[in-house]
Amino acid sequence: MEFTIKAGSPEKLKNGCVVVGAFAGGDLTVAARALDNASDGAIAAVLAQGDLDEKAGSTLMLHAVRGVAAPRVLLVSLGKADALSDKVYRDAVGAAAKALAGSAAGDAAFCLADIDIPGRDLPWRLAQAAQILKDSTYRCDELKSKKEESKKGIKKLVFVARHKDAAALETAVLRGEAVADGLALAKTLGNLPGNVCTPGYLATAAKKLAKDHKIKVEILERADMEKLGMGSLLSVSRGSHEPPKFIILHYKGGKAKDKPVVLVGKGVTFDSGGISLKPGEGMDEMKYDMCGAASVLGTFKAIARMELPINVVGLIPATENMPGGSATKPGDIVTSMSGQTIEVLNTDAEGRLILCDALTYAERFDPAAVVDIATLTGACIIALGNATSGLMANDDALAAELLASGQASGDKAWQLPIWDEYQEMLKSNFADIPNIGTKGAGAITAACFLARFTKAYKWAHLDIAGPAWKSGAEKGSTGRPVPLLTQFLIDRAAE
Ligand code: BES
Ligand code: MN
Ligand code: ZN
Repeated sequence: MEFTIKAGSPEKLKNGCVVVGAFAGGDLTVAARALDNASDGAIAAVLAQGDLDEKAGSTLMLHAVRGVAAPRVLLVSLGKADALSDKVYRDAVGAAAKALAGSAAGDAAFCLADIDIPGRDLPWRLAQAAQILKDSTYRCDELKSKKEESKKGIKKLVFVARHKDAAALETAVLRGEAVADGLALAKTLGNLPGNVCTPGYLATAAKKLAKDHKIKVEILERADMEKLGMGSLLSVSRGSHEPPKFIILHYKGGKAKDKPVVLVGKGVTFDSGGISLKPGEGMDEMKYDMCGAASVLGTFKAIARMELPINVVGLIPATENMPGGSATKPGDIVTSMSGQTIEVLNTDAEGRLILCDALTYAERFDPAAVVDIATLTGACIIALGNATSGLMANDDALAAELLASGQASGDKAWQLPIWDEYQEMLKSNFADIPNIGTKGAGAITAACFLARFTKAYKWAHLDIAGPAWKSGAEKGSTGRPVPLLTQFLIDRAAE
């Protein structure tokens, strides 16, 4: 979908469809009122008939409205005028995208950004709309032998908006598109099955990303990881025939002396649980256990497209977690790169075992902050469901920044505590630390384990086990938290 921005009178636009908003109770947005005036009250008359549901996100396609140049008018319900919120706006844009996809309009003029949402300016409204509209065109048919082809949908869309700072609007739309591109990359990698998206595949995808953008990439092989002493990470790979990879990305948009933000993404390309084998039902979904890694790659794509002035390092420990003759066994003790020994009481708690070595490796970059992203615990889904990522941090200012990035992007996180009381749940009789805690607070004890390896810098952990993908009829990767991470880096770059 190609985007442009222009100021104009909605009734005169000759696009295949004009998209305008209406409030519950028959109030019209500025653009809808312009159409209503041009059509001698046709819009108000339709609304009075009650065909457009007053619930936010309902839509009604009108054809051949008199006095309106465009052949179609898409009315989108915004709910009550005094209850506008980020969510209402996003839902309305999403509903418009869906209605446009099912029409033969070909191109559209989008006038939904002309409403006041508390605390959100026009650039925000445009960036969100561009992201949601473009993201709605994502398809995953790579592995289908016949691709679905549709003549319907929108190829071009013009945002109808006026602002004294035209450049700010251009930037906003470009940023929305860039986030959608990052989301698409993360979704595609997430959706690919474990027999295609192996650690080697992730390394190749990282190389391709680096080739297409101003990004440098380095891949460490098993022998390199052995030399570094990454005994914890390597213990997870032992049961698998797929060689592990450690992917390092550098994006240098900032000044040479600027300390980088380091993003660490869990890249378990299939998590069978290892010797502590998972039950069979739904095990296919453990192909999504590399969504943290995918979100790092997607975020790099987005920030490189935006040419953000910031330095970012990406670290992706990539491996399978499989049972096998030489797999790590419950009770085995391994030595991490930090020197701390770990008693592996459950081989299914493998995410923290690969992350801890990546977090130790991160120290060498003297980071401004480190954020790890991982589908780490089922317990986090129990706590927060699928709508929200779990956020845990050793620095409250960093946590607050990430919470705000979540709010602004709509890709929300919520903080859980990692107080010292919880550290007492991690005790081993034989090693420095066990890889699982005592019963309860599973998302927190996982983060407390990681906290033992992040003392050298400001660190936050995002447990994305809930939001990373959807199950059931809509099964598929969501690409989250690419929007949150990108927003975080946009705000950091602006400092
Ligand atoms: N990848 C899983 C976490 C997970 C489970 C994410 C279900 C999404 C849906 C992780 O490696 C895991 O298996 N965690 C265990 C930890 C437990 C053994 C302490 C879990 O959450 O059950
Ligand atoms: Mn596991
Ligand atoms: Zn896992």
